[in-house]
Amino acid sequence: MPGFTQEMYAKLDEAIASLRGQEGAVMRTLQAAQEIFGCVTKPIQVRIAEGLNVPLSEVYGVATFYSQFSLEERGEHIIGVCLGTACYVKGSKNVLEKVVETLNTPVGKTTPDGLFTIRDTRCLGACGLAPVMMIDDDVYGRLVPSMVPDILKKYQKADA
Ligand code: FES
Repeated sequence: MPGFTQEMYAKLDEAIASLRGQEGAVMRTLQAAQEIFGCVTKPIQVRIAEGLNVPLSEVYGVATFYSQFSLEERGEHIIGVCLGTACYVKGSKNVLEKVVETLNTPVGKTTPDGLFTIRDTRCLGACGLAPVMMIDDDVYGRLVPSMVPDILKKYQKADA
């Protein structure tokens, strides 16, 4: 799993400093942290709570309420299955279920080998290709669930 660098923490501290005392600071700082680290682990939440001077329970409450936040360190590859409206109506839920079943890992979690983290996402801006899944920066469109195992295998092999 990728380690966190000093630069990442410096960026987070910047976000904390610029949002401190503002409306929705907890939510916005968590979003910034999710962007920077790809997750909001407990130590990151503690840093945010201390930095914003709010109770940890408040940060934790927001972090756990919204599925956009991942509470664990992310895997090497991030799988995002779009559950935006266009994708949803074209069956992206089934694609997501297939990913979950194939990797035997629930949404929001990382596979035990640290290779994949599974997420559901909002519109990825590629509705014309619905249903869409992204793995890192690669976009896969017009998916049917049966295509999922072969797509995942590419990443498993690349790392083997
Ligand atoms: S709704 Fe999935 S890409 Fe837009």
